[in-house]
Amino acid sequence: MTQPVFTDRLDYIRQLFVAETPLMQQVRQAAAAENQDNISLHPEEGQLLSLLARLIGAEKIIEIGTFYGYAALWLASGLPPTGQLWTLEKDPVRAARARMFLQNENQITLVEGDAHASLARLEPHGPFDLIFIDADKLNYGTYLDWAEQHVRPGGLIIGDNTFLFDAVWKDEPIARVRETARHTMRAFNQRLADPTRYKSIMLPTAEGLTIAQKLF
Ligand SMILES: C[S@@+](CC[C@H](N)C(=O)[O-])C[C@H]1O[C@@H](n2cnc3c(N)ncnc32)[C@H](O)[C@@H]1O
Repeated sequence: MTQPVFTDRLDYIRQLFVAETPLMQQVRQAAAAENQDNISLHPEEGQLLSLLARLIGAEKIIEIGTFYGYAALWLASGLPPTGQLWTLEKDPVRAARARMFLQNENQITLVEGDAHASLARLEPHGPFDLIFIDADKLNYGTYLDWAEQHVRPGGLIIGDNTFLFDAVWKDEPIARVRETARHTMRAFNQRLADPTRYKSIMLPTAEGLTIAQKLF
């Protein structure tokens, strides 16, 4: 029997632990081919979100920032058959693209429009088990305010891109990051790092992934 060949650690992890569905593969490839800056999650991060959703028995999930729907597919893969996921996207072109990919996914509802208005409309469906924040960085604080009110005790609040291109921990200004965004992201991580309110960790993924279980 020939041994599989691995190119690096990530390749090893992906080959052993990450089984994308054909649709996930299609969405990831389309997102990469059609956008210079592919901003989808990485496959192993998707598998992690799916595992976390499953571990807490999530039935209701919100994702802020759909893009093409890659992370939505992963999150939904951690739901039981009765579970639901709402994914929020304000850009009409991206929403249309995602809607096309997600059209047969009956556990996923795509909500088009600015996330603040969408979240307000979704409140009657709460409380939610998991919220995944992956959209406009300047609003991470207000999304966290909302999550603190509408995620159940024991539920998860997860934020992506929380290194903010390393601006959260570096002293010097980072060319592509506004100071207001740096303050917002630092405050976001600081709040979730409070052990009296959260059991939490930040993972050193390429972009930074903050994972917090709400204790109140
Ligand atoms: C990083 S991408 C999301 C990637 C997606 N979670 C994934 O991993 O497949 C961020 C998305 O958030 C959307 N977005 C930014 N600000 C938003 C807002 N205020 N309301 C809703 N969506 C927003 C952007 O248009 C973009 O498509």
